[in-house]
Amino acid sequence: MSSFLVSPGLLGLVDQVALVTGGATGVGRGSALQLARAGCHVAIADINEEAGVSTVEEIRALDRKALFIRADVRRRDEVRAMVGRVCAGLGGLDVAVNNVGNPLAYGSVLDFTEEQWDAVFALDLKTTLFCSQAAAVSMVERGVEGRIINVSSTSGVVGAPSIAAYGAAKAGVIHLTRTMALELAPYGIRVNCLVPGTHVTEQIQATLDSDGPMAGFLRASAAATPLQRLGDVLETGGVTVFLASKLSSYVTGQAVISDGGISLTTNRPPVSAIRPKALAHVEGGK
Ligand SMILES: NC(=O)c1ccc[n+]([C@@H]2O[C@H](COP(=O)([O-])OP(=O)(O)OC[C@H]3O[C@@H](n4cnc5c(N)ncnc54)[C@H](O)[C@@H]3O)[C@@H](O)[C@H]2O)c1
Repeated sequence: MSSFLVSPGLLGLVDQVALVTGGATGVGRGSALQLARAGCHVAIADINEEAGVSTVEEIRALDRKALFIRADVRRRDEVRAMVGRVCAGLGGLDVAVNNVGNPLAYGSVLDFTEEQWDAVFALDLKTTLFCSQAAAVSMVERGVEGRIINVSSTSGVVGAPSIAAYGAAKAGVIHLTRTMALELAPYGIRVNCLVPGTHVTEQIQATLDSDGPMAGFLRASAAATPLQRLGDVLETGGVTVFLASKLSSYVTGQAVISDGGISLTTNRPPVSAIRPKALAHVEGGK
């Protein structure tokens, strides 16, 4: 029987240090703000300095320390320097949220070029390896029982028409999480995955407002979602807090889906119905 009891400090996050990559906007910003509300000091690493500094100011307004670090997490040297700057600037690193990612390339799997495939894997999977490696080494060196949270997508759990490379890379993020969880368990480091469905980021709100074809897809997604709406980034941020906190102290290697239930349904709309260019010379098909 565990001696763990619910108490006012039950999250165990007060004065802990968190790093959120891609935390300037979107899902990452939601995680950064919720971690700060839970008591963390937060470093934001991003290539968008203007938005990153604005998020840092929001966190400071919550009476937490915050730091902006300009880093392209596709570059291993910049990732190592980023972790060093978090430890130097905020006094350690307890929670690493590896959030950078984007579908980047849309189209039929039959038309994907090698360059597109490599670009998606570089942004969506290799960054997860670089960031989780650097965070884990730092945690082990300092004897910290840290938590690593990798961000995947429901497109990495169910089929992902029109975004095949992204789906494959995000499935890879879930698998990498499981392996890292096993390898890092002896050090007391927990590694888990946040798996969002569609959430209303600044970019997705702009797409909805534009009323173009992608807006139609997003509205269809909201209608097909059992909870009848898209997600709010503060909701995925809540899952991040759970995975970072003592509430999940016996949870490791897991993928926690936050998608209003859409991955359970059979009526998830495709991003678009694209006829493959590679089959343009063949009769029939849709
Ligand atoms: N928004 C969604 O609906 C949704 C759904 C499923 C999964 N996700 C996942 O959540 C994560 C965040 O997605 P989002 O929609 O909030 O994206 P976003 O584009 O709104 O934010 C991504 C942030 O990462 C930064 N960034 C991009 N490339 C970078 C790089 N090389 N180095 C450092 N920073 C970089 C951007 O400047 C931006 O601030 C991604 O991994 C994405 O795959 C999002």
